[in-house]
Amino acid sequence: MTNAAEACATANGEELFACAAPQHFAVDQYRADFPALAQQIHGRPLVYLDTGASALKPRMVIESMSRFMETDYANIHRGVHTLSQRATDKYEAVRATVRRFINAEYDDEIIFTRGATESINLVAQTWGRTCLKTGDEIVITALEHHANIVPWQMLRDQTGISLRIVPVTPEGDVRLEDVKAALSPRTKLVAVAHISNVLGTVLPVREIAALAHAAGAKILIDGCQAVSHMPVDVRDIDADFYVFSGHKLYGPNAIGILYGKRDILAQMPPYQGGGDMIESVTFEKTTYKEPPHRFEAGTPPITEVIGLGAAIEYISTIGMARIARHETDILAYATEKLSRINSLKIIGTSPHKAGIVSFTMEHAHPHDIGTILDRQGVAVRAGHHCAQPLMEFMGIGATARASFGLYTSRADIDALAAAVAKVQEIFA
Ligand code: ALA
Repeated sequence: MTNAAEACATANGEELFACAAPQHFAVDQYRADFPALAQQIHGRPLVYLDTGASALKPRMVIESMSRFMETDYANIHRGVHTLSQRATDKYEAVRATVRRFINAEYDDEIIFTRGATESINLVAQTWGRTCLKTGDEIVITALEHHANIVPWQMLRDQTGISLRIVPVTPEGDVRLEDVKAALSPRTKLVAVAHISNVLGTVLPVREIAALAHAAGAKILIDGCQAVSHMPVDVRDIDADFYVFSGHKLYGPNAIGILYGKRDILAQMPPYQGGGDMIESVTFEKTTYKEPPHRFEAGTPPITEVIGLGAAIEYISTIGMARIARHETDILAYATEKLSRINSLKIIGTSPHKAGIVSFTMEHAHPHDIGTILDRQGVAVRAGHHCAQPLMEFMGIGATARASFGLYTSRADIDALAAAVAKVQEIFA
């Protein structure tokens, strides 16, 4: 089985070292780091299985942000005073932390945005509007999140490009031959998820990148679901752009990352205009800073950057390869347990999966499933998961989705299975 845990074979040296760590994963010890897990919901211990939507925050992240605001906070890149310099140093140090985390080559390839959605819109509106013209094509897959569809549709309406859609198999896989068939000399960009937020499928992004490059196209990878589940090495993948958000990575929301290769970023015009992205301004003409600052107009989410840095430190101490192995174990356990429930159908059965299980049940709408589970303390997401075209493609309106994190235990899965059995009883 190829899965997230296997990715340690392609990760950087640090993560390869983590692969050699002992199998034991101290999930109860890590759970104690997450204050939210100590509470009860409707009189039952919280079973949080919505990490795919947003991860809970470890105390270390919460405290690092409070501490920063209490002692170091000031605006960055502007002041000569001590606090501003201290805040600037801490902010810029996180750029290096992110660079190491995804094994990018240079700090200036890391751009802080307000979220992964903004990262994709930035690429569409800067690289896309500059480099693409009528008749060019962007290839995406049928399993993309709306954030990796709508910005390209907006660009299509502005520039006259076309979108080509790679189909997904009934199991939820994206086949390389289908990617190849969608490519043509007109393809300028392939934009794909690393892990499907609905199906959990891990896409073969390294192979897709090779195909894109052979066709003369660039590749953008939406890594929102991947960065918290497995080691990611942008150089090994040979990604041109890689985006993710902080809040799915145990960090705060309102902070995202755009990684872009240095030579590509250097050719891109600014996204938003404002303070801190300029070299000089007169009423006649403005000149811009080099990347990454060219793309970080205005006062950025400073405290959120600090929180993201703390989150990366936290999970790096545990080790991404160990987290991936733990989640693979949880996924196998959950798949086995849920498969025993007669009226439940798992949507997304690829052998290449990370910690997400979407399902439907006979007679029960996913929203009803979600509500009944919540009454039993179990938090799952229900709906189309911001992937309406995928839902249509699979011939379903919605699913209930359990998504796992480093703090997910087998006891959580037992509680999920018991709660789902109750749904079956109610709708029998
Ligand atoms: N994209 C997030 C999810 O899949 C919000 O739930």
